[in-house]
Amino acid sequence: MTNNHHCEHPTPITIRRLSFCGTFGASTAARAVLLAALALGAQATRAESPIVIQFSHVVTSDTAKGRAALKFKELAEARTAGKVRVEVYPNSQLYKDREEIEALKIGAVQMLAPSLSKLGGDFEVFDLPFLFADHAAFHKVVDGSIGTTLLHSLEPRGIKGLTYWDNGFKVFTANRPLQTVEDFKGLKIRVQASRALVQQMTQLGAEPSISPLINVFNALRHGQLDGQENTPVNVDSQRLQEVQTHLTVSNHGYLAYAVIVNKSFWDKLPAPIRSTLEGALRDATVYENSIAEAENTKALERIKSSGKLNVFTPNAQELAEWRKALDPLTLAARSGISAELVQAIKTTTGPPH
Ligand code: LMR
Repeated sequence: MTNNHHCEHPTPITIRRLSFCGTFGASTAARAVLLAALALGAQATRAESPIVIQFSHVVTSDTAKGRAALKFKELAEARTAGKVRVEVYPNSQLYKDREEIEALKIGAVQMLAPSLSKLGGDFEVFDLPFLFADHAAFHKVVDGSIGTTLLHSLEPRGIKGLTYWDNGFKVFTANRPLQTVEDFKGLKIRVQASRALVQQMTQLGAEPSISPLINVFNALRHGQLDGQENTPVNVDSQRLQEVQTHLTVSNHGYLAYAVIVNKSFWDKLPAPIRSTLEGALRDATVYENSIAEAENTKALERIKSSGKLNVFTPNAQELAEWRKALDPLTLAARSGISAELVQAIKTTTGPPH
């Protein structure tokens, strides 16, 4: 008997909602009908299962990037009425820094928001110190043709660049005061994997050390690193104030992100879903860029009021010395970054104020 509810076989096998008995005991025709029904059932289930977007990143959920990733999830899931599920994996849970980009290229994750430093190539231009006076200057560049061209340049690597997200200006921390450029001599300082950042530290007489963000706390704690540079929100959320004694509000370089997806995954999405996701990302981007600066101001205040770090803010004259030692054009030439690109950025932003 082939009735699903009256099997002679002791253990009915269930395959995607349809159950049948271990032995069909029916004609070939009946078996064909049953197999066709199974195939249809499987197809229907497939059509109902949501498209999953795994969104991996390396900072905590209470940073601007972390919050915006969750905002994108909320908007994307609501606006596609459950046809898309976004799984957000924060704080290097899935992949560390550069690993995540390799994972995206092979489609092991579908979406990331790495810092521009980690994208390499011309994106490293954004790591040049003292290139942007403020968030608005950075946006003049990325919201215009330079930003668009750079996102397109990712496509041969199987990556589609969708938009830019802010973080903010970086500070230095160490276990000794960093007040003048001479203070860096001989210190081992963590940087992200970027020629411009390596050159920046070399130029200050320090020893640059590339390591994933998630390893920085322990490396500082065990003395494998003496210091690092990052935004206040990254310092605070990685609890680096527990393992450092001094912080310098140098605001020397800008840290920002590109939201990127696996290109073939994105191109194959049904067009209405893709455009709904683009809308969700547009709104998550407005949200991200509206909170990033304030998140850094709050983080710096928290660090100051914790009393754990000795905070030094250079005056105009001291900053002029830093700028002289870290001239962006000299750094670009020494790290193989196109002088034309630096010039184009300077022309777009206008003179620093
Ligand atoms: C870093 O590695 O320091 C930053 O890129 C982390 C981040 O994503 O903000």
